[in-house]
Amino acid sequence: MTSSVLTSRTNQFYINGEWRDSDSGETIDITSPYLHEVIGKVQAVTRDEVDNAIQFAHEAQKEWAEKSLQERSTYLYKWADELVRMQDEIAETIMKEVGKGYEDARKEVVRTADFIRYTIEEAQHMNGESMRGDRFPGGSKSKLAIVDRVPLGVVLAISPFNYPVNLSAAKIAPALIAGNAVIFKPATQGALSGTKMMEAMHRAGLPKGLVNLITGRGSVIGDYLVEHKGINMISFTGGTKTGTNLAKKANMIPLVLELGGKDPGIVREDADLHLAAIQIISGAFSYSGQRCTAIKRVLVHENVADELVKLLTEEVAKLSVGSPENGSTIVPLIDDKSADFVQGLITDAIEQGAHLLAGNQREQNLIYPTLLDHVTTDMKVAWEEPFGPVLPIIRVSSDEEAINITNGSDYGLQASVFTKDINKAFAISNKLEVGSVQINGRTERGPDHFPFIGVKGSGMGAQGIKKSLESMTREKVTILNLSE
Ligand code: NAP
Ligand code: G3P
Repeated sequence: MTSSVLTSRTNQFYINGEWRDSDSGETIDITSPYLHEVIGKVQAVTRDEVDNAIQFAHEAQKEWAEKSLQERSTYLYKWADELVRMQDEIAETIMKEVGKGYEDARKEVVRTADFIRYTIEEAQHMNGESMRGDRFPGGSKSKLAIVDRVPLGVVLAISPFNYPVNLSAAKIAPALIAGNAVIFKPATQGALSGTKMMEAMHRAGLPKGLVNLITGRGSVIGDYLVEHKGINMISFTGGTKTGTNLAKKANMIPLVLELGGKDPGIVREDADLHLAAIQIISGAFSYSGQRCTAIKRVLVHENVADELVKLLTEEVAKLSVGSPENGSTIVPLIDDKSADFVQGLITDAIEQGAHLLAGNQREQNLIYPTLLDHVTTDMKVAWEEPFGPVLPIIRVSSDEEAINITNGSDYGLQASVFTKDINKAFAISNKLEVGSVQINGRTERGPDHFPFIGVKGSGMGAQGIKKSLESMTREKVTILNLSE
């Protein structure tokens, strides 16, 4: 790790290519989830500053959209290069701000640079199409439609705390390469990392006003941003409650929402149980389960449940618990309130008869990895998203029961199916109401060019590089009426 690069300085917000203090005179303290001390401050911007940022973005977007794809690419490549160059200091900021292990934080930055580069390349291979009118009955050969993609204008990018750089750039990069400008609102706990990412962009010399960083509590400025007439598209990642409210408030503009999940690991009787146990534990507990795609419940066939439980218990015992500075897998949760919520789910399940196999131990916001067996569908932990290190095991007697419990959820992000029977795997997959099904692997988003989709309470629209490019542009048809 590099020497300390994080300061407890007051950070500025970024508007029209300049770093500024807010006229509000107010700042927000950012407290590290494991150091338990203030590690920086961000500005609480005013509504007037939001208005100005959106105005600057519109002005910059007009010129940006006129630039060739090659010119836009040059700027974005520079941004990716700067991120790689700054990877150590950004990783340290991520680690201290959201408590992610240093190596995972560094990988997040490198993954982001790769994401930006792939986005540029994908955009360069996206072409429009043309159509002749006489393909439709009664149509005329003299009509030729040219279908192209054009930018939407100003995209509002709102990101969550758990991937403060990657999930921000996953919105900003496709928006920019497609010719849009961006208003970037990071999670407040995540805004120091977002600011570092913007420093990389500033160094890359992107045109002023093109991307503006707005910091402030979502509860204070969120609605104002979302309802603003100057916003032409919203790309949001965060909790289902926040996303649902946002969707009700937004104007009639395109929305992409990536929200929470309750992904099951379905283990059939014929599964490779060793593989399943390793994948499930890594899927459930990495970064203390603070991933939308974490495996959040196990649905195991009763005939192999005892054996799987034994393997899962052995794997849980291997997890390291402690500080992200030591590379621990289980780290303190983002704040005390989140830890209280997770503890509440554990306590409720135990009180209702779940068998505790490991965990149920807590030091402030550090929750030890908790494994619960004989969980029933009456328990809250069977349905609620903990965003923490607790894994409930529900024993089932058939594929149908596993499918019904999966589909009984309000969420529909991903599911894993562990089986040696590929036909059964597809049969189950076809019945699951989720965006993606992983066969014999843990639930996860990447690789980042795969479509990433949440259905039901898990979202709307799709991410994944090509999908994001499509959602941040619209089709425009120009029709040539040729003389016969
Ligand atoms: P969150 O509390 O919903 O916050 C997400 C973002 O929304 C933050 O930037 C937040 O700002 C902002 N926000 C809050 N109120 C708002 C409002 N009224 N209008 C507009 N924006 C508002 O979620 P989180 O705690 O950061 O992240 C955890 C949740 O995100 C989990 O449920 C997880 O499953 C989900 N998630 C989903 C995905 C996915 O791709 N499906 C990926 C990652 C996370 P402040 O921070 O200032 O409140
Ligand atoms: O919670 C963030 C979500 O997008 C998961 O990403 O790569 O950890 O599966 P990943």
